[in-house]
Amino acid sequence: MASISITETVLRDGNQSFMATRMPLKAFEPILSTMDEAGYSSIECWGGATFDSCLRYLNEDPWERLNIIRSHMPNSKLQMLLRGRNLLGYQPYPEETIRSFIRCCVKNGIDIIRIFDALNDIENITAAVDETIRQGAHASGTICYTISPVHTLDNYVTLAKQMEALGVHSICIKDMAGILSPKQAFDLVSAVKQAVKLPVILHTHCTTGLAFMTYMKAVEAGVDGIDTAISSFSGGSSQPATETLVYALEELGIHTGINQSLLKKINEHFTSVRQNAISDGELDPIVLTTDTNALLYQIPGGMLSNLIAQLKAQHAEHRFYEVLEEVPKVRKDLGYPPLVTPLSQMVGAQAVTNILTGRRYHIIGKEICSYVNGTYGTAPGPIDETLKNLVQEKQQVSNIPSETPKSLSAAEKVLGDLAEKEEDVLSYLSFPQTAFSFLENRKKQKEHCSPYVITRLSE
Ligand code: CO
Repeated sequence: MASISITETVLRDGNQSFMATRMPLKAFEPILSTMDEAGYSSIECWGGATFDSCLRYLNEDPWERLNIIRSHMPNSKLQMLLRGRNLLGYQPYPEETIRSFIRCCVKNGIDIIRIFDALNDIENITAAVDETIRQGAHASGTICYTISPVHTLDNYVTLAKQMEALGVHSICIKDMAGILSPKQAFDLVSAVKQAVKLPVILHTHCTTGLAFMTYMKAVEAGVDGIDTAISSFSGGSSQPATETLVYALEELGIHTGINQSLLKKINEHFTSVRQNAISDGELDPIVLTTDTNALLYQIPGGMLSNLIAQLKAQHAEHRFYEVLEEVPKVRKDLGYPPLVTPLSQMVGAQAVTNILTGRRYHIIGKEICSYVNGTYGTAPGPIDETLKNLVQEKQQVSNIPSETPKSLSAAEKVLGDLAEKEEDVLSYLSFPQTAFSFLENRKKQKEHCSPYVITRLSE
């Protein structure tokens, strides 16, 4: 009997697409053991924005969150998303740091690491893939799908073959903006399946309304796995609904291994999480609808909710559509990078700046300067000459601030006794200022709190 694997995304991508990743552990902890029994092939629960948000907004230790999830889910494969050489942060790290980071991820309970590079530069994922394999975890080589004059079917197939040669266990096609059409999905999945002997997983978003059709065509082309979100966190800028796909696939005789009655319980839980988030204003209903503009702007779900948040913070939400129009222009100037972290944030922030200052590239982000200088790897297409010149001029007149430490030993020195474990050092390396404040607070709390809290914190 034909079968397909289902990855549940509510804890990571559903959370990120709908709530800018602000869902606290306590909102989903009670349902984890039910999710553990539901028969998912894997649970995407960690990585990237979840890590950042834990430290920055939720005052949670992301490593402790992972441990707690692991303890409630002994039967599930826990999956995370890793930004290649950028790990969970926004800038490239030295190999030693990459390897320690991955060791700690696996040690703390991660089974599957989906590894991508925003530029699809294979060099940028090599060390992470190698260490994941060494640690005995599943390395999923991830292709960022985008549309541009420089991205062709042949490019993607070549990339899949290069990943296979690195020894990855599966290939994931990651369509973060929901712009992969049913026809393109059929052609791409067929081509990749023909070129490599590995399972092929497809990840998409409902943003433009294509996703259900796209998944069905991918199934026809022989895709081995798809990502879905429980229905209360599905649709809009998130993934298609788990329940809907399980129903449709099972009827077609394609086995999912999912217990549908448990999905109902899981959904009841997350329906109330969603309701609370809407009441608190943490979930902006704009992300719940279909936006066909994304077919023009190619904005991923997580980026859309972040752009809204950025504009709101500056009381400029009325300029949302101007910013949306600026995004593809900035992207073109940068040689068409796929809009995925860190490029999505960099392009988004630059587009906001271009619009709010009223002068394009009057101010240029530090990261954009590094990108133009090649720090992030090779741009997929040529970078705009005018922008290159502006970056050069800017560097001549200003001293770019010195970089924060990237190596474990340098970070350990900075942290001193704030670091209680290797994971703390890695948190700091990922998000220096945010993690520093978090660790400082933790120390203060321990000094002033009752013994009970101290034990609870150090568990
Ligand atoms: Co996604």
